[in-house]
Amino acid sequence: MAQQDDNILKKVVSHAKEYGFVFPSSEIYDGLGGVYDYGQNGVELKNNIKEYWWRFMTSLHDNIVGLDSAIFMHPTIWKASGHVDAFNDPMIDNKDSKKRYRADVLVEDAIAKLEEKVEKEVEKAAKRFGESFDKTMFIATNPRVAEYQKKVDEANARLKDAMNGNDMTAMKQLVIDLEVADPVSGTKNWTDVRQFNLMFSTEMGSVAEEANTIYLRPETAQGIFVNFLNVQKTGRMKIPFGIAQIGKAFRNEIIARQFIFRMREFEQMEMQFFVKPGEEMKWYEYWKEKRMRWHQTLGLGKENYRFHDHLNLAHYANAACDIQFNFPMGFRELEGIHSRTDFDLRSHEKFSGKKLQYFDPEDNQNYIPYVVETSVGLDRMFLSVLASSYVEEKLEDGSERVVLRIPPALAPNKVAILPLMKKDGLPEKAEAIMNVLKFDFRCYYEDKDTIGKRYRRMDAIGTPFCITIDHQTLQDDTVTIRYRDTMKQDRLKTEEIKSILEQECSMSRLLQSI
Ligand code: GAP
Repeated sequence: MAQQDDNILKKVVSHAKEYGFVFPSSEIYDGLGGVYDYGQNGVELKNNIKEYWWRFMTSLHDNIVGLDSAIFMHPTIWKASGHVDAFNDPMIDNKDSKKRYRADVLVEDAIAKLEEKVEKEVEKAAKRFGESFDKTMFIATNPRVAEYQKKVDEANARLKDAMNGNDMTAMKQLVIDLEVADPVSGTKNWTDVRQFNLMFSTEMGSVAEEANTIYLRPETAQGIFVNFLNVQKTGRMKIPFGIAQIGKAFRNEIIARQFIFRMREFEQMEMQFFVKPGEEMKWYEYWKEKRMRWHQTLGLGKENYRFHDHLNLAHYANAACDIQFNFPMGFRELEGIHSRTDFDLRSHEKFSGKKLQYFDPEDNQNYIPYVVETSVGLDRMFLSVLASSYVEEKLEDGSERVVLRIPPALAPNKVAILPLMKKDGLPEKAEAIMNVLKFDFRCYYEDKDTIGKRYRRMDAIGTPFCITIDHQTLQDDTVTIRYRDTMKQDRLKTEEIKSILEQECSMSRLLQSI
């Protein structure tokens, strides 16, 4: 179960830094807001998450292929995609605290508080009435709950209208009517709401007059759309088919916060699935179910995931939902699944003047395919794994340990090789064992400090197995294996280590169990 506690996030942030997972970027210059570097353990965990995603999407779906498109793209792409005109967030400042917020997030938080009130009343009533309880009837008839629910529905409708109609006056009125107070100053003294474009721009070309303004991509998806026909033709792909890509995206977030949850430079794992028009809802449901299973197979607790339908659809979507995860700060978006219609391809056709159509040999006709997209933030995945793996344990002897119960297939190191002493040929024997294992599993060699301290360090970076080499090893070729989660220890033959690691840490096995 993910632990819902602000303190947990703070602990995870400092643990991530202390143990080489995530560092603030440019730290010696006091950091750069919303930008982070991944350390020696972080990069391994990140690569393993990528592998889990990439192999699932591409190797396990023979109609999905990969792509690695450039970050710099022709500026007209962002005009066609709608990002130049519509990739905005509504920004509002509190005049007393001078803090800046996203107005829509303040409104959504206020709505969530009202929804929590409804849920609490429902829970209480469900206990009172027992099996005969009818939730819909209760919400409609209990005067207090009906009032809360009415407020929720009205606020959602007004938020949707304000966002769709780009009406920032209505947005400010909503902030006022919901009596939103600044969490810092506690006051309701707000500025007007202004739209803020999230794209970073830079110049390409050496001479100022010739230079073109170009953008750092705010999503990897557009690189897929503009390569749609290249891939379809050269790969002889038949609809339905998908193109998957992992890569950096950049957004000048109004407020980048909550560690690597909302960053200005981050990584996305996106897949665009091209389907016949009219079949998009079937594929939308298909991908919702597939993606949820992919997440839940990791073993971080099924109860920590839920779907959340979008009420305010993005400019390109006819259906959309999030897979939310129970982060330390509560349920938040982890992945987006969007039915993007033919918006992007149609628009690129218009702006580029090039046909982006598929000839369907079965129907003997050309059409612009519809698209179902799955888009998950790699950094958010990383946070979901790290935060829910972090456990503080009190042990029987009264001591404490911090252990990262990272799913073994994702763990940065699969096994630690620990010679009990730095003499008597033990290091040489340990190295010989490592020289066999290192071709299949990432190993960590450590011969400093007491064995107890070394075990604790391995717990703290989530290494699932420790192998200790002692004097008995030299005599009978057996070692001690220690299990991270139970701390149990067994004696086994060195030749058995490999099959245990294969059994417990294999990415292929994890993928097979989806
Ligand atoms: N191509 C669709 C798209 O970009 P999105 O919902 O804006 O949709 C998809 O982003 C995913 O990217 C999100 O679910 C989240 O995991 C991740 N993401 C978005 N903005 C992010 C940010 N500022 N920092 C970290 N991850 C982010």
